[in-house]
Amino acid sequence: MATAYKPSELTLDDLDISRPDLWRDYAILPKLATLRNAGPLHYCPESDFGPYWSVMSHREIVEVESKPDIFSSSWDRGGITIGGRPPEGEEEIRFPMFIAMDRPQHTGQRRTVAPAFTPSEMDRLRASIRGRTATLLDSLPVGEAFDWVDLVSVELTTQMLATLFDFPWEDRRLLPYWSDVATDFDAIKDVESHRKRHEILFQMVVYFQRLWDERKEKGLAPDLISMMINSDATKDMSQLEYLGNLILLIVGGNDTTRNSMTGAVMVQNRYPDQWAKLVANPALIPNATSELIRWQTPLAHMRRTALADTVVAGQTIRAGDNVVMWYLSANREEGMFAAADTWMPDRENARRHLAFGHGIHRCVGARLAELQLGILFEEMLARNMRVRALAEPKRVNNCFVHGYRQLMVEMMRG
Ligand code: HEM
Repeated sequence: MATAYKPSELTLDDLDISRPDLWRDYAILPKLATLRNAGPLHYCPESDFGPYWSVMSHREIVEVESKPDIFSSSWDRGGITIGGRPPEGEEEIRFPMFIAMDRPQHTGQRRTVAPAFTPSEMDRLRASIRGRTATLLDSLPVGEAFDWVDLVSVELTTQMLATLFDFPWEDRRLLPYWSDVATDFDAIKDVESHRKRHEILFQMVVYFQRLWDERKEKGLAPDLISMMINSDATKDMSQLEYLGNLILLIVGGNDTTRNSMTGAVMVQNRYPDQWAKLVANPALIPNATSELIRWQTPLAHMRRTALADTVVAGQTIRAGDNVVMWYLSANREEGMFAAADTWMPDRENARRHLAFGHGIHRCVGARLAELQLGILFEEMLARNMRVRALAEPKRVNNCFVHGYRQLMVEMMRG
């Protein structure tokens, strides 16, 4: 149970959980706990991203997500993350995408891509995902150091995205490269890197424009680009919107699943007793997958802008305020998840996690992510794979993507 908010007891150091060094050095979990234990909602009066509210708890995040007409996702009002602003005086590149739109535009555009993620589509994709996962795991070096992030997590998510888009296979590594350039906040610290980023994103625009033209010629096909071209809601979409939604799918499917795949190795190393439960009972895999997504929470937050004065947890949020929902905090809330810092494959309420968000913007790719991660667990268990972490991971240096740049491991079989 959260105690009443006592602002006087909290310093700016307690309140500003957006600082990149906290995430890079992994000092963030105790910070989140301090703030959460002090109450569900806090106002940080200054930060590199300006003042913002932090919503720390499960119940209040659900409340904010349930009121999309009051808490806007619109890019015009500031968008869905904090951070990532260009240097002073430099123009920001904005690709309109439906994650950063409100109703009614959001509804129509989401409907266009949703058919790519139905249960029957997942059944269609299952065998190819299994085949690719098995081939990749069998190709890994045994008894030799390698980076799990690069060789496994990035490669498997990239192959999946290339399949969804029917993207030229030999160029598939461009997808995570573009995703990194689009979201890597470290890369836009100075004007020179900002210009370079513009250039790379422009190359991406040219590439996707070519694919669009080719697919338009071809007509109906089950890949996501053809779906967008042929759907009523999006066929008249502007070029910029088309590109925005493509980037959304690349980024949405990339960082998130990738970091959960690395999370799978982290939990194997951190919680050997819990992993043993999974080995003893593989029927736990679907639940273990939800639990992995809860534990990892690869997107640490989403942001909203208040459109009207409103009260949440007894605090008045003013129209125009910046509201940050910290999923990572809610997913580690002891009142909701006992021993919340521990990954437990048999946790009864693992599916109540908020890592996919909640409400009208809840992750459209959730089933696909669960499918890929479930298959990864199945194939690791089938090989009795033990992946030993050789060092602490290198982490992403921002408060949005809660993930890993590198995890050096050594694989042992049998
Ligand atoms: C939205 C997380 C995988 C595509 C979201 C949101 C979150 C999220 C937190 C925003 C929810 C909100 O604003 O309320 C995750 C996690 C994943 C994952 C944790 C993996 C573990 C994927 C995959 C795809 C995808 C595989 C597609 C290939 C999207 C899209 C949206 C979205 C298109 C926008 C939905 C909307 O605005 O209606 N995701 N995601 N995600 N995700 Fe995912």
